[in-house]
Amino acid sequence: MTSKTSGLIREGTVKLPEGEVRVYGPVPPEEINSFDIDETLDSFRRPSKQKEALKEIASLPGGQVFIALFKNVIIGYVTFHPPEPFERWSEGNIPSLLELGAIEVSRNYRGLGLARKLMEVAFMDGAMEDYIVIATEYYWHWDLERTGLPIWEYRKMLESVMTSVGMEPKETTDPEINSHPANVLMVRIGKNVGREDIEAFEALCRKEDEEFYLFDNP
Ligand SMILES: CC(C)(COP(=O)(O)OP(=O)(O)OC[C@H]1O[C@@H](n2cnc3c(N)ncnc32)[C@H](O)[C@@H]1OP(=O)(O)O)[C@@H](O)C(=O)NCCC(=O)NCCS
Repeated sequence: MTSKTSGLIREGTVKLPEGEVRVYGPVPPEEINSFDIDETLDSFRRPSKQKEALKEIASLPGGQVFIALFKNVIIGYVTFHPPEPFERWSEGNIPSLLELGAIEVSRNYRGLGLARKLMEVAFMDGAMEDYIVIATEYYWHWDLERTGLPIWEYRKMLESVMTSVGMEPKETTDPEINSHPANVLMVRIGKNVGREDIEAFEALCRKEDEEFYLFDNP
């Protein structure tokens, strides 16, 4: 089966005592529209706005949305899209660069392996081998308050989710990443990515920020 937007559909399930959760994608925007969204899927924005954002990402060229669906209700998602134009990662237009934009699981369903399953499904069948997948993890986006997790425990949890598909922390000169020691750039370079893209990406990771130079050398 293929999605109209972004290639082969990948799929898995998570069994809960109440029933089976279907984890799959890439999901086209009209299909996202046909589902409800759980009222506790609100870490980044109100659930109704989050549903709109998921539809937007699914409509982007190169955008991919994977969802965890329980009884026609979206209870989790992970999104991927080309880097935003204002980010350093869009410089050089590296064609294989794909950003994991966000991963979220409803508060009512956390700790059940859904985040891990979302990642497993997204990276299934070598689908991400053509991409350099990055995730810029900034602690100010994390749900520290409602999980009650200390910052480094939260970082450990996220690292565990991401390393489960081979993403690894990578050093960078990016000032936003380096503005707090818990922030991290996670990266996975797919097996089919060409040398040119890898070199361009390595250069981006090491790039010195011009504003910082100006600041250092007035
Ligand atoms: C991060 C998040 C997606 C994890 O979702 P989840 O479905 O609960 O995660 P999983 O059940 O798949 O667990 C993943 C790992 O984290 C651990 N974990 C999950 N909840 C935990 C908790 N409250 N305390 C400690 N560890 C925890 C699990 O044991 C598992 O570890 P393992 O892989 O070593 O076994 C979820 O907490 C969330 O939506 N947070 C808000 C949004 C956010 O911060 N997103 C990340 C930035 S984009």
